[in-house]
Amino acid sequence: MARVRTTYRCGACGTATPKWAGRCSGCGAWGALVEGPDTVLGGPTVASGEAAMPVTELDEGGSVARATGIAELDRVLGGGLVPGSVTLLGGEPGIGKSTLLLQVAGSVAARREPVLVASGEESAGQVRRRAERLGALHPCLWVAAEGSVPRLLAHVDELQPALVVVDSVQTLADPEVASAAGSVGQVTACAARLVAEAKARGLAVVMVGHVTKDGALAGPRVLEHVVDTVLSFEGDRHHALRLIRAVKHRFGPTGALGVFEMADEGLRAVPDASGLFLADRQAGVPGSVVVPTIDGSRPLLVEVQALVAPSALGTPRRSAQGVDGGRLALLLAVLERRVGLSFATADVFASAVGGVRLVEPATDLGLALALASSALGRPVPHDVVACGEVGLGGELRQVVHTPRRLTEAARLGFRWAIVPGTAVTGSSGLEVMRADDLAGAVRLCGLLGPLVDGVAHDGWPPTDGGEGRAATPGWALPRSAA
Ligand code: TYD
Ligand code: MG
Repeated sequence: MARVRTTYRCGACGTATPKWAGRCSGCGAWGALVEGPDTVLGGPTVASGEAAMPVTELDEGGSVARATGIAELDRVLGGGLVPGSVTLLGGEPGIGKSTLLLQVAGSVAARREPVLVASGEESAGQVRRRAERLGALHPCLWVAAEGSVPRLLAHVDELQPALVVVDSVQTLADPEVASAAGSVGQVTACAARLVAEAKARGLAVVMVGHVTKDGALAGPRVLEHVVDTVLSFEGDRHHALRLIRAVKHRFGPTGALGVFEMADEGLRAVPDASGLFLADRQAGVPGSVVVPTIDGSRPLLVEVQALVAPSALGTPRRSAQGVDGGRLALLLAVLERRVGLSFATADVFASAVGGVRLVEPATDLGLALALASSALGRPVPHDVVACGEVGLGGELRQVVHTPRRLTEAARLGFRWAIVPGTAVTGSSGLEVMRADDLAGAVRLCGLLGPLVDGVAHDGWPPTDGGEGRAATPGWALPRSAA
């Protein structure tokens, strides 16, 4: 780490400036500049100075992934951890990062490969107690309550481990760098040092990194550039479900999703995630629609719920949990102008069940139907799934991987799919019904037909062959009950 000169660095994006300022010139964050040594950030993490070679004559350099033994994690990593690679595991406090990594360490140690866990957050005794609970007690698992990089490397020299777990990068410190542990300068310097050591020794390193409230990894963004893989561990702390995905991965595709459940004996794999998401679903309740989403390459069925209730407030409430607030506002406007439902005097709550975050536009149609269903007080038939993007004109647009979504829905016992008119559906086993616009889809769900025994099933399934193309004009449709 050459140049050491005092400078100021932004805690959010890592931009360095020689002078203090209230606002970072790089990312615009206020009050984020902190004093720290001007360590060289990034730089080459591989050996340089070699001659250029044709790609066909290069060997692969032995970067073959080694399974960790935790199947859901191995799937996300495309096989396992690559020797000589550095992985950063980000997640909110209490989500289960330490638990997961101790399970990984225990699993690797059980193969009689030495593993070193450097814990700067918990004492060695605490780690032991946790390992006992997780069934990870094994003589090949070594624990050091260590925050100093040189001493950590001394342990590595002594043990020659196959895997080093650092919990967390924010508690590491290099005495040569003159700033406190957790400061931007320290975190970057320590990470850069670990990356260099991992490459030189062919050692797999996994570091825990905390995330800030808005979900960004704490510390400078440069940390993400330095490491080979960034994993994000998500979920609602109050729910048992945990999702892990690779945000960046130099050894395989990103986007694969691993699903765990937090149990008493640690994290348990959930191979049938869709089934778990839908386990508590009640049939016949207005405002509930199941959407088949694709997370990476894995289809996942998630229930979207909406509640439209009369508001006592001058400015009615709009609350979105697990769905995008901007998207909710857009869909309300489209339902108002293109379908004729009014939400002006109603509080609107929308959520994705199970602590999942739905970001795909493919969930638009499901959410819009849930909103219409709640506003009209009629349930969408329980064996229907809906997927499609909703445009500002109320038109439905097709989304990618529709056949894979529908196949997953068929596997879980759904019978009908409402999709955009142009969607390519393949043969999934579901009865496909097409609508060109949102009003058509609302009609297809039976939300505008007469109620029979309190359920809008009359005329369902529709006898017109499911075309649903003739949308009723907006003025002919009922206003919401609100
Ligand atoms: P932890 O791994 O300490 O989270 P992080 O390192 O991300 O901060 O996990 C914290 C939570 O997990 C804690 O609230 C207790 C719960 N937990 C279980 O439910 N079962 C278990 O077996 C363990 C070890 C933890
Ligand atoms: Mg922890």
